Amino acid sequence: MKNLENRRSIRKYANRDISEVLLNSLLAKAERTQTMGNLQLYSVVVTRDPQMKEKLAPAHFNQPMVTSAPVVLTFCADFRRTSQWAENRQAIPGYDNFLSFINAATDTLLFTQTFCNLAEEEGLGYCYLGTTVYMPQLIIDILKLPKLVMPIATITLGWPDENPPLSDRLPLRAIVHHETFRDYTPELIDDYYQEKESLPLNLEFVQVNGKDTLAQVFTDIRYTKKDNEAMSAGFLETLRKQGFFP
Ligand SMILES: Cc1cc2nc3c(=O)[nH]c(=O)nc-3n(C[C@H](O)[C@H](O)[C@H](O)COP(=O)(O)O)c2cc1C
Repeated sequence: MKNLENRRSIRKYANRDISEVLLNSLLAKAERTQTMGNLQLYSVVVTRDPQMKEKLAPAHFNQPMVTSAPVVLTFCADFRRTSQWAENRQAIPGYDNFLSFINAATDTLLFTQTFCNLAEEEGLGYCYLGTTVYMPQLIIDILKLPKLVMPIATITLGWPDENPPLSDRLPLRAIVHHETFRDYTPELIDDYYQEKESLPLNLEFVQVNGKDTLAQVFTDIRYTKKDNEAMSAGFLETLRKQGFFP
């Protein structure tokens, strides 16, 4: 990927459309990505209609990119198409279970990221919306997703209208283990996070939020146990409704 070294999320888009031809060519190229059993266990719902974007916005906590991007893409784990193919061909599908969901979700994310890399090469900007799995039932209702289809990832896509700085990353030694997993010690944690914690932006982040450490900003404000537990319960319930548990 020629631009991967400089890739970053883009949240502001120019008032310029993305042609159907360009979008379809990127989606078609992304289909070359690897996929379990060559089954392509994913679908994508393209949203261009401003009214549909307005409807989707609350499911994404009204993040402004949903309504300001020319195109919103909802990538879904889809075992429905494969199951119906089987049923119509004297074959009995057995994909209404959690393992099949994980396989379809994996396929979906691989397709999504391949699409993102290709879009970036065309000069497009995008932002991944993790809110897709926070209140999936809202998205299912709006997009009319049937059983064995589950939203996994949303991408807002457009021509960049900002040039944000690159965000930091942990040093490579923090993420690579050789032969077996080397568990973390307080000293290693200090080593891995020291650079991130001393960035002026992050020091300010801690101060503005009235916290003592950067980690507390994540645990107490951004991604709390209470929210995670509530949204996990909702996610499992939705997964059941979509038929991914018997
Ligand atoms: C699973 C996941 C969920 C994300 N959710 C959001 C989101 O809801 N809103 C947002 O603005 N960015 C979201 N992002 C983008 C991250 O904030 C971003 O990738 C990260 O801060 C690193 O910045 P960079 O992409 O510019 O390098 C998400 C990224 C991932 C991979």
